[in-house]
This record gives sequence, C-alpha cells and structure tokens, in this order.
Amino acid sequence: MKHHDVIIIGAGAAGLMCAATAGYRGRDVLVLDNAKQAGRKILISGGGRCNFTNQKVEPHQFICGNPHFVKSALARYRSSDFIELVERHGIEYHERDHGQLFCNDSAKEIVTMLLTECEWAGVNIKLRTDIISVTKTDNGFVLTTSAGEYSCESLVVATGGLSMPKLGATPYGYKLAQQFGLNVLPTTAGLVPFTWHADQKARFEPLSGIAVPSTITAQDGTQFSEALLFTHRGLSGPAVLQISNYWQPGQAININLLPNENALEKLQQALEKSPKQSLRNTLSQWLPKRLVEALFEAAQLDKALNQLGHGERETIASNLNAWSIVMNGTEGYRTAEVTLGGIDTNELSSKTMQANKVAGLYFIGEVMDVSGWLGGFNFQWAWSSGVAAGMAV
Ligand code: FDA
Repeated sequence: MKHHDVIIIGAGAAGLMCAATAGYRGRDVLVLDNAKQAGRKILISGGGRCNFTNQKVEPHQFICGNPHFVKSALARYRSSDFIELVERHGIEYHERDHGQLFCNDSAKEIVTMLLTECEWAGVNIKLRTDIISVTKTDNGFVLTTSAGEYSCESLVVATGGLSMPKLGATPYGYKLAQQFGLNVLPTTAGLVPFTWHADQKARFEPLSGIAVPSTITAQDGTQFSEALLFTHRGLSGPAVLQISNYWQPGQAININLLPNENALEKLQQALEKSPKQSLRNTLSQWLPKRLVEALFEAAQLDKALNQLGHGERETIASNLNAWSIVMNGTEGYRTAEVTLGGIDTNELSSKTMQANKVAGLYFIGEVMDVSGWLGGFNFQWAWSSGVAAGMAV
C-alpha cells in the first residue's frame, strides 16, 4: 500500500488549488479523479473563457445555511490573491459587467496554470481512478481504488456538485459524508433556467431569442437587475439564473420589464402627447413588439390610449412593472451551473474545512452547502476553500 500525507478526491477547481497549496507546504499530495481529464468544468466555464473570479467578492453573494461560514476563507484567500496568481502566469484577462473577470483567450489557461502550480509543488495526479471504498484507521484513512490501495493522514473531498452529469458529476462526496455520519442538506439545481407550463409554452415560445433588461424579485425579496432571455423551454439569462438560487417550486417570480421606469406615468405621458395612438404602437416603442403581443390581448392592444380607463392603464402598467409569473420548474442538473445544498457547513470548521466529528477529513468547493451568485463567485469559493484546507492538511 502506498502512503501519502494527503489524498484529495477530485481534480477540479477546489481540489487542484488545495493540492498545490498543501504541496508547497512540503506535504506529499496525491490527487485522485475518475475522469480522464482534470478541471473539465473549468474548461467549459464562462463560455470557454472561465469567469475565474470577481473584482468584488462579499459574503452576502453566497448562499449557505450558515451565512457567516464563508467569511473566514474568503478573507484569507481573496479574489485579489487569485488575480495575482493569474497575472504571475501571464494570463491575459478582461473585466465584464458587475466586476466579472474572464480570460481573454481560453479557460484552458486556468487549467494549465493550476496543473503547473501542482507540478511545481510536487503534487501527484492520478486520473481515471475509481474510488471503491474509504475506511478510517487510527491515524488516517485507507482508500481502495481501481488503481490499488492508498493510505493517507488527511483526506480531502473535492468531488463537486451534481450539475452537468454528462461531465462526470457524481454524488460520491455526499455519500462519503453520510458514511462518516455527517449531515448532508437536500440538493437542488442552482443558477439554472426556468421552464414553462404547457399553456405558457404555447403563448411564450415564439418569443425565443428575445432578451430585455429586467429586474426580477424572488418571494424572499432578493432582487437582480440583469438581462432576461426568452428561450424555447422557458426563461433564462443572467437575471433568471441568479434568481433561481432563491426560488422554491410553486413560488411566483416578479419581473419588472421596465426597470427604473414608472409604467403608469409613462402611459399617462403618452396619453397626453398622443391620445389616439394605439396601445400596441405605444408599448412597442418600449419593448419588442412580439413581447408586447404575447403579454396583452389583441383587442386591448388595438385600443387607442384615450379608450383605456384609468383602471385598465393601472393593470397594464402593473403587468409591465410587476409581471408575476409562476414557472413550471427548472431545467434541473442537466444545465444548472451549480448545486444548492450539500455537506452541512455546521459539520465543518470554517477555518480549515475539516469535519468536526472526523479528524483528518475535509470537504471543499461545491460539494459543501455553499453556492455563489453568477459572476465568478463559485470559482472564488473553490479557490478560497481549497487554500483554507490546503493550509491545514
Ligand atoms: P468540480 O466540479 O470543478 O470538480 C469536481 C471533480 O471531482 C471533477 O474533476 C470530477 O471528475 C471529480 N469527481 C466527481 N466524482 C468523483 C468520484 N466519484 N471519484 C473521483 N473523482 C470524482 N463558476 C464560476 O465561478 N464562473 C464560471 O464562469 C462558471 N461557469 C460554469 C459553467 C458551467 C456550464 C458549469 C456547469 C459550471 C460553471 N461554474 C462557474 C461553476 C463552477 O464550475 C463550479 O462551482 C466549480 O467547478 C466547483 O469546483 P469543485 O472543485 O468543487 O468541483
């Protein structure tokens, strides 16, 4: 049996970051992954350009059963630390809206950077290796794998979430946590598009491809102002992905299609200026015509503004500023960017990510009950939690 100080299961964002950190501390580190390539999610992230972090990272941008849990790791390894690493490797990047940082060229550069760091730190990475069993010993763990038996003092679980099963996502990390008696919170798809009910689909499917600025509010009051995209299946776009993290099945979402504008006042002004103009022509100056025609009945759209009573104008305005819609569901893990829920953070140390009940066992990255907003926050959590454990193992 081959012994290592540290074994990390998962050669993804968090696992590689943890491995390099521990390796530089002189620890003998082995990373095991069942995939044939390391960092596959990084490669497809950010449309192939990897939104690797955000200029402004704050604890409230993470969803976690214990909102204070993320503070320590995020403060000790900041986005500025990762930016400095990226710059040291000569990777060119650019900033998009809301402080999001992307590679200029390709997400491959981030994977190459992490693998280079691991190589410099003397980390051993073994791919295409299935973990068959993990047992606790007096001074560590024994892993039986498809490539033989290994023992270690510290075991780090970095197997990620359930999103994108076709990329090899597995529930292995949750099962291992349960094997050691750790609580695992129910998981659901996050940062995910919504789907239509059948009747909505007939009405809104023709709008597929239309994108408009919006402010979307969830029932708990959480609000995001970003683009809304109509798709064949339902609603998507950054505002929708963000709000999906705060949505429960059956709840309505509230969509403001004219953010920063008072639709009732706008209608009043239009009425005073052009009383004989049709509602259709008026609204089509503010929103795509196809959207206007899907939102309102043709008979109403054909009316001139001066044929609409005040109450009718109020209802129209409310549909524009506060369109309340109950979506059927989400597209699920197939297209979700993250998994909400996971290893209960009450089971872990926020400084080291070690399980309180099991000495030497650590959980990092998305497998934990920590999910970030869209915008580079999920990778930042992978880097920060990876470094926190890498410093401790
Ligand atoms: P990650 O999923 O990266 O790695 C887990 C590793 O564990 C994988 O290598 C897997 O093969 C391995 N593994 C799983 N089960 C195993 C088993 N049983 N045995 C052995 N190995 C096993 N975030 C962001 O901040 N900016 C972005 O631009 C994007 N874009 C994006 C696009 C898409 C399409 C998706 C699906 C996701 C994103 N994300 C993102 C989210 C981001 O990719 C995600 O949060 C991190 O990759 C999580 O890092 P982890 O290391 O925790 O898991």
